[in-house]
Amino acid sequence: MNKSNVIIKSPGRVNLIGEHIDYNGGYVLPAATDLFIKFTFSISDKDFSEIKSNVINKKFNVDLTNLKKSTVKWENYIIGSLISILKKRNINLYNFNCLIEGNLPVGSGISSSSSLICGFVKGINLLNNLNFNKNDLLTISREVEYDFIGLKGGIMDQFTIINAKKNNLILLNTIDNSSKFIPADLGNYKLLLLNTNKKHDLSDSSYNDRVAECNKAKRIINESGIDIKFLTEVNKDQLNRLINKMPKSIYNRARYVIEENERTKKSVEFIKGFNLESFGELMYLSHKGLKDLYEVSCSELDFLVDETIEHNQILGARMMGGGFGGCTINLIHSEFIHFFIEKISSKYLNKFSIPLSPIITSLGGGLSQEK
Ligand code: GLA
Repeated sequence: MNKSNVIIKSPGRVNLIGEHIDYNGGYVLPAATDLFIKFTFSISDKDFSEIKSNVINKKFNVDLTNLKKSTVKWENYIIGSLISILKKRNINLYNFNCLIEGNLPVGSGISSSSSLICGFVKGINLLNNLNFNKNDLLTISREVEYDFIGLKGGIMDQFTIINAKKNNLILLNTIDNSSKFIPADLGNYKLLLLNTNKKHDLSDSSYNDRVAECNKAKRIINESGIDIKFLTEVNKDQLNRLINKMPKSIYNRARYVIEENERTKKSVEFIKGFNLESFGELMYLSHKGLKDLYEVSCSELDFLVDETIEHNQILGARMMGGGFGGCTINLIHSEFIHFFIEKISSKYLNKFSIPLSPIITSLGGGLSQEK
């Protein structure tokens, strides 16, 4: 029996552009953050397992021989992972202690839930010598979120957390999960996240409605005789010809998806060509689309984006992640960051009576074991 501790670091993810595209078969441009969840696992002699989170100050026990859904939401990320692991490898797992620590904010659009699941699955894998490869980790963690938690999202978060490389973006094609690393050379600019502290739990939000609306758009397009598997396979002209065949809101969702996918492809060219000004403009257009066409923004996020427009030192800003709260991502000149943080924090507090949490983030590596 392996008696030593297994320590895992699991990052969060940012996404530069390509929002709500990963379940529509398009391109996304995420990376891992240097913020992470740290897990310390050890094998236990008890006949139950203990999970303790210092991040949210909660703990609970599980009986590995009788795993069932909890009424406490966060416990289900762990329980669902264990069920999924046991489905993949039908063997007895060791009882364990798992301590969860770290600095990744919860419910802020930086993918704390996927990070929790991926890190936990990797830890149990190592503790029990299950020999999961990256693909196994990906399918197991996706299954937990999709089937057990019920968030009908795409693969972007888990893919990034498992595969990320320090200082690189991942250009991920969600049609076939093929990917390329793009060095994130942002010169004098940095990525600043502004966390609204408006907590969002995507599985309780309209996230799944958006997935259903995209599927509806696809159905209408297919019924018109254009045969597609993914919404990104039609172009804007084809969609515009069907404008009278679908409700306005469904047309808007599809239009956003097609435009955002094009923006992501262009962004990669701009970033590779060090044309950050043009990339920044696309970030603003992405936000506008998410707000007006896809309708997943909220007043706090809109305020934070609007407040950047008058500053030339900020090249672009947009809401990031699933929406309905969470944070904005800003491409900002490093010398302007501290001045701006001070200014925006006090304005935000005045307006919403909630403190703003700014996070200057660098791009980190993927899921790792600490030796
Ligand atoms: C959440 C989901 C992802 C993705 C984003 C929006 O983070 O987990 O799969 O859809 O929202 O881009």
